[in-house]
Amino acid sequence: MEILDNQLYYQIEGWLYCIFSAISSFVIIGMNVPIFLACLLPLGLLYYLILKLHLNTFRQARRLESTGRSPIYSLFMEAIQGVSSISAYDAKKDFIQEFEEKIDRCFVCSFNSWVCNRWLNFCLNTLGSVIVFVATILAIQNRESLSPAVVGLIITYSLTVTDSLKWFVRTNSELENKSISIERIQEYCNLKPEAPWNLSHEKLTNDWPQNGIIHFEDYSTRYRENLDLVLKEINLSIEASEKVGIIGRTGAGKSSITLSLFRIIEPFSGTISIDDIDITKIGLHDLRTKLTIIPQDPVLFTGTLRINLDPNNEYSDDQIWDSLEKSYLKTFVSNLSEGLEYNVEEGGANLSAGQRQLVCLSRALLKNSKILVLDEATASIDMETDSLIQKTIRTAFADRTVITIAHRINTVLDYDKIVVLENGNVIEVGNPSDLLKNQNSRFYSMSKGAGLI
Ligand SMILES: Nc1ncnc2c1ncn2[C@@H]1O[C@H](COP(=O)(O)OP(=O)(O)OP(=O)(O)O)[C@@H](O)[C@H]1O
Ligand SMILES: [Mg+2]
Repeated sequence: MEILDNQLYYQIEGWLYCIFSAISSFVIIGMNVPIFLACLLPLGLLYYLILKLHLNTFRQARRLESTGRSPIYSLFMEAIQGVSSISAYDAKKDFIQEFEEKIDRCFVCSFNSWVCNRWLNFCLNTLGSVIVFVATILAIQNRESLSPAVVGLIITYSLTVTDSLKWFVRTNSELENKSISIERIQEYCNLKPEAPWNLSHEKLTNDWPQNGIIHFEDYSTRYRENLDLVLKEINLSIEASEKVGIIGRTGAGKSSITLSLFRIIEPFSGTISIDDIDITKIGLHDLRTKLTIIPQDPVLFTGTLRINLDPNNEYSDDQIWDSLEKSYLKTFVSNLSEGLEYNVEEGGANLSAGQRQLVCLSRALLKNSKILVLDEATASIDMETDSLIQKTIRTAFADRTVITIAHRINTVLDYDKIVVLENGNVIEVGNPSDLLKNQNSRFYSMSKGAGLI
């Protein structure tokens, strides 16, 4: 957008300027000595040939130059990041030598592209001189009919042609390069947009969903057209305030279920309804604000801890501290000198992975929506904190629907319902104790594998 808004305009202006100034010179000379126009044809042909030859070669030289440049950058980055190892192993000499070799290799290519440019300049200068020569000779030939002022005009204008032609080459290739951004923008414009954010829906009230009942009906989905289905004909009912554990091997489609609940991926067939409202019939914003997720890789933003917990500034400090207490972060935050004003770095880099998930948990506690989805949310937390958190989830979210995607089976053993996924299919659904009674069930063998039986 920046190129389109600020740069392309100048490029086009320069490009047009070159063309028109060359044309006007030719017109002025041609008006006074028409025979000059006849010379333009062979000269134009020559100009075209030179340009074609130059562009083909120059493009390749530039390509080689840029491929030669990236190894330099990566070696430089490598050296900066590994500076202590380089010193420790006394590998300075090797690195310097390698660096010099790479620079030499790159310069061989950039030398060629410079030579290309010099060659073009030489050719264009020669061509320009020929134009001046021809124009001058013609002016001398017609000295009887032309006034001295017109001869001066012809020669002056023929002198500017060289510059115009040279500039034209440069602006033309830049214009070509910069036009790529127009293509890119056009590509984005033609992307299929997400569904609308808000849709009026007569049944949708402010406190929807009141119960948090979720139904999957013959639900299938995939990530993109012409990819395989990742969830296949799923039929599943989740009752109000039910605690559901979803388990399955890696790649079974557990995270895909959460993504389809939020409509990050749209259905291929079938429906998901929450409290009897088909979620594809409501706006994305209406849907997503009503659900809470603690994702597999927690997302934090640059800013204070407070902003991360309460981005819309809706809750009081007491409420925030309360949620921090429930998520076992209170001691950590109160030991920080800045407290809630603690600055979280890009992506939460100055918090541990477990702490990031706990921050997400406090955020979920604050929002307290009817439906909570936890995707391996406790994967990076130690066993003890993990069991405390599970306790919090059971008490604080007692009247909420909770869907937990669990790698550690013991965290969902006391849930109301277990869903076992395999290859995008639901293969077992049921109460954990019922499933455990059946020694042939997948859940039984998984629990046995985890050493819980
Ligand atoms: N962005 C994506 N584009 C295309 N295919 C994807 C994408 N994300 C996941 N998949 C495919 O979907 C299938 C299910 O992936 P999903 O992330 O749901 O697995 P999961 O059960 O959550 O696994 P894990 O336990 O490792 O988190 C996998 O086969 C995967 O290859
Ligand atoms: Mg996953």
